[in-house]
Amino acid sequence: MKKHDIKAFDLWKETMHVMGRFGVLLCTSDKDGKPNAMNVAWLTGGLIWGRPIITVLVRTNRHSFNNIELTNQFTVNVLPPEFTDALLYLGTASGATEDKFAKSKLTPAPAQAVKAPLIAEAVVHYECRIVHKNDVIAENLTPDIRSLGANHRVYFGEIVAASASPNAAQRLS
Ligand SMILES: Cc1cc2nc3c(=O)[nH]c(=O)nc-3n(C[C@H](O)[C@H](O)[C@H](O)COP(=O)(O)O)c2cc1C
Repeated sequence: MKKHDIKAFDLWKETMHVMGRFGVLLCTSDKDGKPNAMNVAWLTGGLIWGRPIITVLVRTNRHSFNNIELTNQFTVNVLPPEFTDALLYLGTASGATEDKFAKSKLTPAPAQAVKAPLIAEAVVHYECRIVHKNDVIAENLTPDIRSLGANHRVYFGEIVAASASPNAAQRLS
């Protein structure tokens, strides 16, 4: 079904609903354009600097981390619940050692505004260029979450394009 452009946060409630249950997919590519996808659930959205921003926390040992550092771009893709097997796989295997797109049978597709790929099977896409990044500082975390939060870099991605399938809200409910 052909996708259409949406405003940055038009389907945010639906995106958060799915993210809380299964996670969403962060897509990146390496310097040769090879795509990779990983499941993320440490992600927020809102307006900063008057711009629509997605912040995502990526642990520094991820293959996706290397890709983001090289390209300064990512996309976020929201798959409907029938793809839980693929989400689990993409959230456990690493693109450093396997071709995750080939193994998950998902299809990389060109984005409109960034070089990082989209996932054709997703029903909502966010295309982001990184406008700021910083590291989580272990000593600054409260003791109760210190063991969960270190070794992550926080990326602030401005949403420069967003699109969705016409029936996205229904597919994500
Ligand atoms: C539901 C779920 C949510 C996850 N959220 C994050 C996250 O927000 N940040 C992160 O660094 N890793 C997260 N992970 C772990 C990565 O998806 C996982 O380590 C993945 O294999 C990394 O892939 P890569 O090495 O190809 O980048 C999550 C995994 C699952 C299953």
